[in-house]
Amino acid sequence: MSASLSARFVLRGRPPHHGPVPLAGVIMDASPNAADSADIAWRALTVARDHDWSLGPVVVSEASQRLTLEVDGRWHATAPLGDDQATCLDALLPLVGPAPSLVVAQLGQSLDGRIATETGHSHYINGLASRVHLHRLRALVDAVVVGAGTVAADDPALTVRHVSGRSPLRVVIDPRGRLDAGCRILRDACAPTLQLIGDQASIATPARGHLRRERLPLEAGGMAPRAILERLAQLGCRRVLIEGGSDTVSRFLDAGALHRLHLLVAPLLIGSGRPGLCLAPIARLDEARRPRSRRYTLGDETLFDLDLRPPT
Ligand SMILES: NC(=O)c1ccc[n+]([C@@H]2O[C@H](COP(=O)([O-])OP(=O)(O)OC[C@H]3O[C@@H](n4cnc5c(N)ncnc54)[C@H](OP(=O)(O)O)[C@@H]3O)[C@@H](O)[C@H]2O)c1
Repeated sequence: MSASLSARFVLRGRPPHHGPVPLAGVIMDASPNAADSADIAWRALTVARDHDWSLGPVVVSEASQRLTLEVDGRWHATAPLGDDQATCLDALLPLVGPAPSLVVAQLGQSLDGRIATETGHSHYINGLASRVHLHRLRALVDAVVVGAGTVAADDPALTVRHVSGRSPLRVVIDPRGRLDAGCRILRDACAPTLQLIGDQASIATPARGHLRRERLPLEAGGMAPRAILERLAQLGCRRVLIEGGSDTVSRFLDAGALHRLHLLVAPLLIGSGRPGLCLAPIARLDEARRPRSRRYTLGDETLFDLDLRPPT
């Protein structure tokens, strides 16, 4: 445990806030019976997810601990927290703040920047700690977006299973309407699903039950990421996770539509296969993006949290 974490009163997060500290807050007792009851950090984040920050900070308390999440992104605890809990707060608190919208992407990749083999096999590049992190990301957002390639390759459920929390709206970008009606997200009603198809696509099977189908215009480069986000905002989705794959995340990044990117780097070398990001080519390194970044350890992997917002 680091020195700062063993202090009786721990201040972490973004630089100190110099404005008035709100006095009122929402106090919630952590339920001792909840699946993640030992994890007060995760409990606090799930409260923060739906919190009205104009009411003040989030305060979660249990027997010997009182954890406060401030509106400016700092947190403090009255007793030491474990490293895993501190990492969870540091990495995820920026996602649940008062900003009116938040778009975060993730990619789990090897040391040599691959997210799948040549055959599309990607289960699993990352270990359990990173997979838990991914499920936490899902639980904190209103919608999780994947490309048709990921659904065709992995047939994912896109639900929250490794942690407590609710599953977001599942969104698949399927411009040609090529997905098999039997794939899990189109078939299973365990979470609402939106299939975004192009204006020319034709699909015989009707959309019903948990499945909604909508058309978006296809421009020269495909569906505009910002048009996708606007539609999701109209549906009430304020926080959005772009989960993959490479093509989908790269399109959102190239369009300047991401606020953050979580790169989960696992210590393996795949040596061939699908690269994580494929962006518009640049000629010189001074044209490369150099986002502000923070690093965290998740098991034997490293999470790079890239802040893609323009500096203020
Ligand atoms: N390691 C990880 O974190 C991770 C995460 C997810 C997936 N994966 C792996 O990544 C691979 C799939 O990635 P991928 O890059 O091939 O595919 P993808 O990004 O999942 O899907 C790409 C496809 O989605 C559609 N699409 C996405 N955005 C679009 C847009 N803005 N406009 C128009 N169409 C759009 C297009 O469909 P059409 O092809 O029909 O035109 C496009 O070819 C799989 O092997 C999967 O296992 C890894």
